[in-house]
Amino acid sequence: MKTDTAPQSAPKKIFLKDYAKPDYLVEHVSLTFALDKTKTRVTARLSVKRNDGAAADAPLVLDGEDLDLVAIAVDGKSLGEDAYTYEHNVLTVRDVPAAFTLETEVLINPDANTKLSGLYISNGMFCTQCEAEGFRRITFFPDRPDVLSTYDVRIEADKSAYPVLLANGNPGDKGDLENGRHFAEWADPHPKPAYLFALVGGDLAHKQDSFTTMSGREVTLQIFVQPHNLDKTDYALDALKRSMKWDEETFGREYDLDIFMIVAVDHFNFGAMENKGLNIFNSSCVLASETTATDGDFELIESIVAHEYFHNWSGNRVTCRDWFQLCLKEGFTVFRDQEFTADQRSRAVARIRDVRRLWQRQFQEDAGPLAHPVRPESYITIDNFYTATVYDKGAELVRMMKTLLGPEDFRKATDLYFDRNDGTAATVEDFVGAMEEASGIDLTQFRRWYSDAGTPQISATEAWDNGTYALTLTQHTDPTPGQDDKAPRHIPVRMGLIGPDGPMVDEKVLQLKEESQTFTFDGLQTKPVASLFRGFSAPVTVKRELDTEERLRLIAQDTDSFNRWATAHAFAMDLLKSMAGQQEMKNSHEALISYAKAIETIITDETLEPAFRAEVLRVPTETDIGRAVAQIDPDAISEARRKFRRGLLETLKGTLSDLYTANLVNDDYDPGADQAGKRALKNAALALLMAEPSDTTAELALRQADNATNMTDEAGAVSLLAQSNRPEREDALSRFYDKWKHDPLVVNKWLVWQALAGGEDALDKIIALTRHEAFDMGNPNKVRSLIGAFAMENPKAFHRADGAGYDLFFEKVRELDKRNPQVAARLLTATEAWRRLEPKRRDMLGSRLKALAQEDGLSNNTFEMAERLSD
Ligand code: PHE
Ligand code: ZN
Repeated sequence: MKTDTAPQSAPKKIFLKDYAKPDYLVEHVSLTFALDKTKTRVTARLSVKRNDGAAADAPLVLDGEDLDLVAIAVDGKSLGEDAYTYEHNVLTVRDVPAAFTLETEVLINPDANTKLSGLYISNGMFCTQCEAEGFRRITFFPDRPDVLSTYDVRIEADKSAYPVLLANGNPGDKGDLENGRHFAEWADPHPKPAYLFALVGGDLAHKQDSFTTMSGREVTLQIFVQPHNLDKTDYALDALKRSMKWDEETFGREYDLDIFMIVAVDHFNFGAMENKGLNIFNSSCVLASETTATDGDFELIESIVAHEYFHNWSGNRVTCRDWFQLCLKEGFTVFRDQEFTADQRSRAVARIRDVRRLWQRQFQEDAGPLAHPVRPESYITIDNFYTATVYDKGAELVRMMKTLLGPEDFRKATDLYFDRNDGTAATVEDFVGAMEEASGIDLTQFRRWYSDAGTPQISATEAWDNGTYALTLTQHTDPTPGQDDKAPRHIPVRMGLIGPDGPMVDEKVLQLKEESQTFTFDGLQTKPVASLFRGFSAPVTVKRELDTEERLRLIAQDTDSFNRWATAHAFAMDLLKSMAGQQEMKNSHEALISYAKAIETIITDETLEPAFRAEVLRVPTETDIGRAVAQIDPDAISEARRKFRRGLLETLKGTLSDLYTANLVNDDYDPGADQAGKRALKNAALALLMAEPSDTTAELALRQADNATNMTDEAGAVSLLAQSNRPEREDALSRFYDKWKHDPLVVNKWLVWQALAGGEDALDKIIALTRHEAFDMGNPNKVRSLIGAFAMENPKAFHRADGAGYDLFFEKVRELDKRNPQVAARLLTATEAWRRLEPKRRDMLGSRLKALAQEDGLSNNTFEMAERLSD
C-alpha cells in the first residue's frame, strides 16, 4: 500500500476569500486504536455523504500526514492502487458514490512524534493533540472544522502499562483481551470537528467529584494525573465546579455529557485543550499544591480550567467554520474566562492584569511585522495564528460590544448566538449579527475591528471656557503589513470628569466614530480633568498632555480604580523613558518624588485591596520599557530602571519595611484573593527593598526563603536573590535546586529566574544551563522557561552587544525546528521588535532573521515566521 512519497509540500498560502464548502461530509466515525509505542494501528470507518451542491464527480479528498496506509475500502470493497493517490499529505479517491462507507487502516509511530501534534507519548502515556491540524496525523480525514461528526472509539492496549483508556464522550463497554491486553469503548453523541478528538492511555490515578447541573443532572468530574501528582489536583477540581456553576448563572450554559475529564500531561505545546469531555492540560496549568505552586500559578490554573470548560459552548457546541474564524471561539472564551476571574476575585485587579498582558503581548504584536487582523485573511500554517491578537484583542472586541450593548442586550445576544448556531460551524459574522439583532445597534463600522490590524492611537486635547469643558478626541492607526490606509473605527470611550474635590459628572460612554470629534460639558464650576477609557474601554493608546498636578488628581481621586492604576503607570513610564534618554521631562527629579509620594498614599491606604496596592507598587520590567520607547537601547533601559527603583527606594524605604511586616500572613494557606493579595503586596515591597539590597534586606529575603511554608513566599524571595548580585545568590539557588529537583514544574521556575538574571556573565550561565540535567529540548515547558524567558524577558543578555545572545537563540531555534516546529516558530516572536533596536543591534538581529528565512529545510511554521519578521 502507499505511503506518502513526497510529504513536504512547498509553503502555500491559504486565503479566507477562497473558502469553499466541503464536497463531502462525514456523519459518523468509528475508530479502533491498537495502541503500540512504535506501531499503533488505527482503523477508521467513516460514513461519508456528498454535500449539497457538490458535483457528482467530485473526488473524495482527505488529509493525511505521516500515515502508513495498510488498507482502504469503499463499501467493503478493497481499493486497487489505481483507485486513489496519496501524495503531499493528501489522499484522493475518485469515482465515489453519493453516500458510502470508507474504511482505512493505517500505522503510526507515536514514539517518533516529537511535534506533539497527533498521537504521541509523554512520560510513558499515550495522548493526543489535534487542534488545529493534528487529526490528519492519526487517520485520513477531511481535517477541517466545518466537518462535524459523531464518534465512537475503541481503544486496545497492554493492560499493565496502560490501565486507563480514555476518549471523548460517555464511557461504554470495557474488558480484557488476550495477551495481557484490554479494551475500552467511548461514544460521543455530540457532532464535533476532528480537532476536538482526544484519546489517552496510561498508568494514571484520578481524583473524582461530581456536579449537579441546573436541570438536576449529575455529572462525574475526574482529573487524571501520574500517581505521584494526585495530591495536586484539588484546586483544579474546585475551579472546575465553580466554572460550571458560573457559566450556568452568567451565560445560561449547562454541561451536556455524563462525565467531564481533565488529563495532565508533561509534554504539551500550549496551555491546555478543550477536547469534548476530555480536556488535556499541560501539567503546568493544572497541578498545584501550596508548597509547589505560587498564588499566581493558582490564579492561572483557575482561569485555564475555566477557559477550557467554557469552550464546551464557545468552541465545541458552536464551533468555527474555518480557522480564519479562530477568534470566534478564542476571543469570546478569553472574554468569558476574564469575566469569571473578575467575579471570583477582584474585578479591578483582574482588569489591570489583563490589560498589562494585552500591552505586553498584543500591542507589541500590533506594532510590528507580525501585526495581523483579529480575523486574519491568509496564513501558511494556522499554528502561527494562535496569537495575542486573536486571543486577547479578540476578547477586547467582545468586551467593547458588551459596553455598546449594555449587559442585558449582551446576554440576549449571546443566548441568540448559542441557540441559533448550536451544533454548527459558525463565523464571526454570525456572532456580530446576533449582537446587532438582539440590540438593534448597527455594528457595521465596528466590524473594522475584526478586519483591520493595528492599535488606534487617540489624541486627547482639552479646552476650558467659562464653565464649558470641551474634549476633542482624534483617532489614527498606523499602517500594518498589507494594510496602508485605515478608516476610523467605532470606539466606545467610557469616561468621567474629576474636579479638585472628586467626580463632577456621572460616568458616560462616548461614541467616537469620526476621525475627530469634540464632546462638550456645560455648567461646570471649575476645570475638570477627564478620566478617559475607564476600565480600558477600548484597546487603544492615548496621547495627552497632563501636568503633574492633574496626574496626581487622577491617581488620588479617580473613582475608576483601573484608571488610578493606569495614570500611575503612565507617570512611571514617562519617568523611566526620560531616565533612559528617550523623552524630555522637566524637573524630573521632583517628578520622581511626586510620583513616589502619590503611590505611597495608595500603597498605605488600608481601604484599598492589597492586590491593587501591589499592582501600583510593581515597577515596569525592562521589556515593558522597551515596548514604550521609540528606539531600544537595552543598556540605557536597564540603567534607567535601576536608577528609578533606587530613587523610589530612597523615598519609600520606611514605608516598604512597614508594609512588609504588616502584610505577613499567619493563617493556614489559602490561594484565594485575600491572602494572595497580602502576599503580593508584601513581596512587591520586598522586591523594591531589594533594589539596593543591604545586608539586612538580603537577610530578610534569605529568612523568607528558608522559613516559607508556601511556594509564593519561597519563590518570591529566591527569585529576588537570583536577580541580585548578593553573595548569597548562588547558595540560595543551589539549595533551592537540591530541595526541588524531583519536581519538574518547580525546577522550571528555577530555570526562569536564571534566564532573567543580570550580570556580565549572564549569558554564559544560560548557555551552561542548556547542558544542565534540568533542561530538555524535548519538553516545551523547559524550552519556554529557559530559552523563551531569556529571549523575551532578559533584554540585556539577549541583545548583548557582541551578538552572542542572538547566536545562542538562533542555534536553539534551528535545533528545535527539526523536532517541534510549532514551538520553534513561536520562539521567534521574541525578535518582533528588532526594527526598533539601536542600529548596531538592529543590523545584527535583522540579518540573522533574513538568513533564517532563506535557509533550506525549514518547517513551514518557522519559514512563515522568519519571512514575516524579516520582510
Ligand atoms: N484551543 C486551545 C485553547 O485556547 C489552545 C490550543 C491550540 C491548544 C492548539 C493546543 C493546540 O484553549
Ligand atoms: Zn481557548
